[in-house]
Amino acid sequence: MKVTPITANFVADIEDVNLATINDTEFEQLYSAWLEYGVLRIRNQNLDDEQLQTFSKRFGPLEEAPFGRMSEEDKAKIKHRYVTTLSNIIADGKPIGGLGNSEATWHSDMTYIETPPPASLLLGIEIPEQGGDTHFANQYAALEALPGELRTQIAILTIKHNAAHTSVGKLRPGFEAFDDPREAPGAIHPMIRTHNESGRPALYLGRREWAYIPGLSVTESDALLDELWAYVALEENTWTQKWQPLDLIIWDNRCVMHRRDGFDQNSRRYMRRCQVLDRNAV
Ligand code: SIN
Repeated sequence: MKVTPITANFVADIEDVNLATINDTEFEQLYSAWLEYGVLRIRNQNLDDEQLQTFSKRFGPLEEAPFGRMSEEDKAKIKHRYVTTLSNIIADGKPIGGLGNSEATWHSDMTYIETPPPASLLLGIEIPEQGGDTHFANQYAALEALPGELRTQIAILTIKHNAAHTSVGKLRPGFEAFDDPREAPGAIHPMIRTHNESGRPALYLGRREWAYIPGLSVTESDALLDELWAYVALEENTWTQKWQPLDLIIWDNRCVMHRRDGFDQNSRRYMRRCQVLDRNAV
């Protein structure tokens, strides 16, 4: 297996491995590279749902796909209940997956829960000719880029992370609309998070929209958040994935943010996704 860093310390391409048949030694090497580089790209992985789910489970317990009101009995009959779809494709008048063709703003996944997920895996199947690129930003580097005084100021501060809206700004089912970020439901986390495996501190802002810093007025909170967000995605700390079919990307939400460009609704984008949960969350 070959690990080729794309920049000195952020994002690596992994080659000469088949994730459907990866052995324990190869997985250890891949896992170390993931911890080191935060984002891995592995091209030409023709994985079916069973293979994607099996490989993803090596990182930890997986989140179930959303099944709405389906009974536990019916859920148990679904073979790949941990693989979800991101897509703009409409079949029989219904979207077959989440997020549609919208732009998704910078975020880390599910920071609004008490024990947010470490890893996310995304496999590209159908890719539009234009748009739908996914961008990644290194949050170890974002923290290092902060002026010393700002870093000292935020060392004792937390953020309330909004659970009510998706990364494309839609209200999730079951949540009420609100105007004041202090009313947003969601978990509170320190702004600087020490990665539990690498031991390195990273900036941990979650998502800009509806974020709130407890203890400050909304005006003060917004001003400080805006100041911090200027450091989240400095050009030298970001990388863009231009998808090819059968690219698999694995990112570490503890130290990486991502966002996605929108794309033309007349083109087709079809992705398979697994979300790895924190072992303490299950
Ligand atoms: C996301 O996970 O926010 C979307 C990523 C993508 O569709 O490229």
